[in-house]
Amino acid sequence: MPNIVVVGAQWGDEGKGKVVDVLAPHVDVVVRYQGGNNAGHTVVVGKEKFVLQSIPSGILHPGRRCVIGCGVVIDPASLIEEMESLVQRGVSLDGNLYISKNAHLIMPYHPALDRASESKAGKRRIGTTGKGVGPAYADKAARVGIRMADLLDERLFREKLEANVFQKNRLLREIYDTDTFTVDSILHQYLRYAGWLAPYITDTALLLSRWIDAGHSVLFEGAQGTMLDLDHGTYPFITSSSTTAGGASTGTGIPPTKINGVLGISKAYCTRVGGGPFPTELHGEMAELLRRRGNEFGAVTGRPRRCGWADAVALRYAVRINGFDTIAVTKLDVLDGCETVQICSGYRYRGEILTDFPEEERIWHEAEPVYEELSGWQSPTNGLRDYADLPTKARQYLDRLSELVGVSFSLVSTGAVRDDTILVADSVLARWFPSLQSAFPAR
Ligand code: IMP
Repeated sequence: MPNIVVVGAQWGDEGKGKVVDVLAPHVDVVVRYQGGNNAGHTVVVGKEKFVLQSIPSGILHPGRRCVIGCGVVIDPASLIEEMESLVQRGVSLDGNLYISKNAHLIMPYHPALDRASESKAGKRRIGTTGKGVGPAYADKAARVGIRMADLLDERLFREKLEANVFQKNRLLREIYDTDTFTVDSILHQYLRYAGWLAPYITDTALLLSRWIDAGHSVLFEGAQGTMLDLDHGTYPFITSSSTTAGGASTGTGIPPTKINGVLGISKAYCTRVGGGPFPTELHGEMAELLRRRGNEFGAVTGRPRRCGWADAVALRYAVRINGFDTIAVTKLDVLDGCETVQICSGYRYRGEILTDFPEEERIWHEAEPVYEELSGWQSPTNGLRDYADLPTKARQYLDRLSELVGVSFSLVSTGAVRDDTILVADSVLARWFPSLQSAFPAR
């Protein structure tokens, strides 16, 4: 049984939650490897909508073991709220949820620092989710972070907390001129969280390794997307973790040699939320249309997402950085009824056409997209479940995008609910998970 990484190919919000939900019944374990409660993975089951922030989307399938890996940063208040809400809706967590001892905690001063630094950033504002994710990863890298295991050791927790509160209060007061924190109130609050979370905190790297050795298959669930990666994204307009496939190893403790493949997730068009470069961004009527049809509003913050045409230059880059074996395309139905559809095949910069994604911030901001225009399709694809039923023009669009990107498509999502999914026959995904074919037969 294969161990597969699922990675967002764009700027996040590609529909990873739905794809992981579709794949979860065909694996034994789902593990989140980075990010925190800045993520919002939306899964629609029948008439019910779930938005998962820190817990892997696999939790909605009874018996799937779900792991929050060491690469994730955890806001315990938000995690407990998410756990309680799942339990209230009949989802069992007992024996299904495991939290890494090495995952770092988001502390109350992290969101405060996140908001304070954003408020002073002017036009270089990142547009963060304000959840404290960046400052928590900054502490991790600076070796002053506090980990889940520390929650279980009151003396050590207090010692680390005191040092942090002393330093953060000076920053908050003297640099940002804002409110400060007291050790005792945080200690009291976090010890209560410790009581709640203790049964779930464990050595997840060891467990995952044992499960893999016993032949169980693991799905590595990424959050955000390639272009928001700390090293490979549009720095500094990024999130602070390793969103790309390499992060699956460091964020779980499972070596690359035990990972068998990488699945990219891409929308049929493009979106981005927050600041930063977005070469194929649209403004005006077309952007509004995509936003409305695709319900492009942040699952966590409710912010309207910026919308644009598919960008084959950025997607090809995502293929190179992640080594995608195949791609799942989501939200094809959002493009239904467009007279024409466009794919960016290059960037024009100072008289040159670039086909490799550049590394310079200036070029991202100044490059002009070069588009290929294709005819749109007029009949709806919404809810279609068989590739053969797709309008010819929709198939031509997918074929051209796949050709420009250099990777085959295995799955096409045509609606929010689980079953609005086309599995491409004989695709890489169908070969990885043979049982998928009976769940999504071509009709
Ligand atoms: P942070 O992760 O909250 O620090 O935000 C940094 C950047 O990543 C901002 O542009 C956010 O809008 C973006 N971001 C963070 N999480 C997500 C996500 O789950 N989907 C899309 N964008 C995200």
